[in-house]
Amino acid sequence: MRMVAAVALSAGLGLGLIAVSMAYAQVQNTATLDPGSLRPVSSFAGISDQGERSRALFNEIAKVVTNPRCMNCHPAGDSPHQGDDRHVHMPPILRGDAGLGVPGMPCASCHTERNFTLVGTGASYKSIPGHPRWQVAPIEFAWEGRSVGQICEQIKDPNRNGGRSLELLHDHFAKDDLVAWGWAPGEGRVPAPGSQQQLGELVQAWIDTGALCPK
Ligand code: HEC
Ligand code: HEC
Repeated sequence: MRMVAAVALSAGLGLGLIAVSMAYAQVQNTATLDPGSLRPVSSFAGISDQGERSRALFNEIAKVVTNPRCMNCHPAGDSPHQGDDRHVHMPPILRGDAGLGVPGMPCASCHTERNFTLVGTGASYKSIPGHPRWQVAPIEFAWEGRSVGQICEQIKDPNRNGGRSLELLHDHFAKDDLVAWGWAPGEGRVPAPGSQQQLGELVQAWIDTGALCPK
């Protein structure tokens, strides 16, 4: 019994590693190697071909989008994920009709209006995330398991991004306060790379260069 569990676990870890290294290979050609930072827009000026510059900019944006702080809430299944290893939420949680959880187990029963720091507990995490609108992203906005190119096509498609124009999409990235949580995720969690302002500048530059998607 234990053997089976161990084999299943290592197969799962192996797949996870492959997924991570694929995502990494896709951004590596243009991104800085420091996973905690974002390249400034000015550093893309050397790419003279505008289309190529646009794709390179999206690869940089993807460093945020594929970060666990964002991905954990944009799952392809019915359950949000947790942690840097993006394991399925413990305890098991279902998205429910509106992404707010199911009756009797709404997100808000544990996730309050702000991050809650735990003091002196034996828990493996140091805080519980919080936000007034804490809920899982609609299934049409699922990013889990998709390539950077696929996420890019989906994000700019009004039929799959909540009816947003590119301008509104920019505003969501640059100003939305739930997106902002990614850089203030609470005690014990590593924030998304760079800052929300830098992300907004990259998204604007990507739009200005034609909003092209990496292949
Ligand atoms: C607590 C869960 C949660 C977290 C964390 C989260 N999102 Fe979302 N996201 C949502 C929900 C819910 C929506 C739908 C709300 C809406 O459309 O206004 C959404 C919608 C979006 C959209 C617009 C729809 C689309 O897919 O184009 C973008 C862009 C987005 N999120 C980016 C991010 C980024 C970037 C991060 C990390 C920095 C992030 N999100 C973290 C829950 C989350
Ligand atoms: C029974 C309590 C409980 C309920 C209900 C609950 N959560 Fe959680 N959730 C937690 C705790 C505790 C953590 C912190 C654990 C950790 O970070 O490892 C957490 C962490 C998370 C994270 C991880 C953030 C990250 O980047 O690591 C996400 C995403 C999340 N919850 C989403 C949701 C959503 C969406 C709902 C409702 C559909 C929900 N949770 C319902 C207790 C709960």
